[in-house]
Amino acid sequence: MSLRVSIPRDSGALAVGADEVAAALLEQAHVRDLPVDLVRPGSRGLYWLEPMLEVDTPDGRVAYGPVTPADVPALLDAIVAGTSHPLRQGLTEQIPWLKRQTRLTFARCGIVDPRSIDDYRAHGGYRGLERALKMSSDAIIDDVVKSGLRGRGGAGFPTGTKWRTVAQAGRGQKYICCNADEGDSGTFADRMLMEGDPFMIIEGMTIAGIAVGATKGYIYIRSEYPHAVEAMNAAIEAARRTGYLGEHICHSTDSFDIEVRVGAGAYICGEETSMLESLEGKRGTVRAKPPLPAHKGLFGRPTVINNVLTFSAVPYILDGGAQAYADCGMGKSRGTKPIQLGGNIKHGGLFEVAFGITLGELIDEIGGGTLSGRPVRAVQVGGPLGAYFPRALFDTPFDYEAFAARSGMVGHGGVVVFDDTVDMAKQARFALAFCAHESCGKCTPCRIGSTRGAETVDKIIAGDRPAANIAVLEDLCNTMKFGSLCALGGLTPIPVLSALTHFPEDFGLAPRRLQAAE
Ligand SMILES: Cc1cc2nc3c(=O)[nH]c(=O)nc-3n(C[C@H](O)[C@H](O)[C@H](O)COP(=O)(O)O)c2cc1C
Ligand code: SF4
Repeated sequence: MSLRVSIPRDSGALAVGADEVAAALLEQAHVRDLPVDLVRPGSRGLYWLEPMLEVDTPDGRVAYGPVTPADVPALLDAIVAGTSHPLRQGLTEQIPWLKRQTRLTFARCGIVDPRSIDDYRAHGGYRGLERALKMSSDAIIDDVVKSGLRGRGGAGFPTGTKWRTVAQAGRGQKYICCNADEGDSGTFADRMLMEGDPFMIIEGMTIAGIAVGATKGYIYIRSEYPHAVEAMNAAIEAARRTGYLGEHICHSTDSFDIEVRVGAGAYICGEETSMLESLEGKRGTVRAKPPLPAHKGLFGRPTVINNVLTFSAVPYILDGGAQAYADCGMGKSRGTKPIQLGGNIKHGGLFEVAFGITLGELIDEIGGGTLSGRPVRAVQVGGPLGAYFPRALFDTPFDYEAFAARSGMVGHGGVVVFDDTVDMAKQARFALAFCAHESCGKCTPCRIGSTRGAETVDKIIAGDRPAANIAVLEDLCNTMKFGSLCALGGLTPIPVLSALTHFPEDFGLAPRRLQAAE
């Protein structure tokens, strides 16, 4: 009998040598005349243990990590002899970090073979689509509404409402666009799913197409994700070959097909209207709204635009899981949130959990504090436009409204940790410089305000009339917040003002005590 071993093909694992470990394993197995069945799934998301090697046993998969090629000979000996090894982490499913999660969207990631549609089906894949094919458009959308699913790309707009608008937008050509630009700093959940469970995204987009009457879909993937592009293209081909995409999917009257489009390498191309421009072959600049893309989107036609994680939640919901999904979470934030822990953190990776977990639990208990071992000083949640929270706000629960109430945002779920060596005035400058670099240039508050803002922070840092320049900075932030055409200019003040509010001493101002309830 052969030994079944899984080593991730995920680019996070490849970056730390997964391919080299796989090559060493095959070589050592050959030397020992040991039959090995090597599988290359996605990552389980325990990135500090990558490259993580898993071995199938009668009790389940056993994990070893982080493995280097030099570890492989002794590791293989220990596996064959059934003896212990220092890199042994025990049964993967029993690792506390994984056990504590509620994996609905990432249930299969790191487990299934992303190249095999049969494996996807063997793990419950395509049950949602098969059920949806027997339902009316209204009934599918009712399920999505019932689940309480909100867009996972950032704004948290109710997905069922968006789909209903497109469904009711008359007849004729409609489109489904999956936003896989994933530009937020510290985020990687979309990439993990594209590389680790691509058929789930295809299934979610196909269900959306059937629900709203669209026959064509596009997935817009950032150019920095070549492995995801390859995985999605391979999965789309496999789905076409097996009748899950194309004319009369699964012998039904519905047709749906998907094409991959590679992004243009600009943060603004993740903003939905810029993405549409880019998909149409133009430069990625923002369109004024209205009209909403749901009415007039790609090539002027009604279009559903959702994030990868939003579409990925749909197969579970349509497979009879709408109520179970709605039963998770808190307030108006229903279901689970795949949170991405990064920056200066001991245990970084993908942690999917019901909404409601606090920032403190995530950073201290799950993340294990900083990698540097120094105290945590600030945490930026929600990408480069998210607020910097100090420890005094660590009781904030992961919930769209709770974060907004403290002038922050959940966004795409990126959490980036900084220790006490961070200079928050420099971080505020970085937010403005980032906006200046990424601005599409269409409106003045963002195009000019971001550059003037960075210059003003430079003056504050240099001690040039700090009080007067802070007043200028606040004024610029207000102009950007209220006068920008899109959220890039509109939200850049959030990191800047949060740094100023919570870390005034870094701007040469007297420190002040912040109450947790503030
Ligand atoms: C500057 C900017 C960048 C954005 N980048 C992304 C992105 O990379 N991925 C994404 O899904 N949404 C991004 N969004 C949000 C999209 O405009 C849009 O709200 C989202 O794709 C809708 O999908 P959802 O309802 O499933 O979240 C961005 C928005 C702005 C303003
Ligand atoms: S806010 Fe910035 S990115 Fe958005 S439309 Fe205006 S210039 Fe373009």
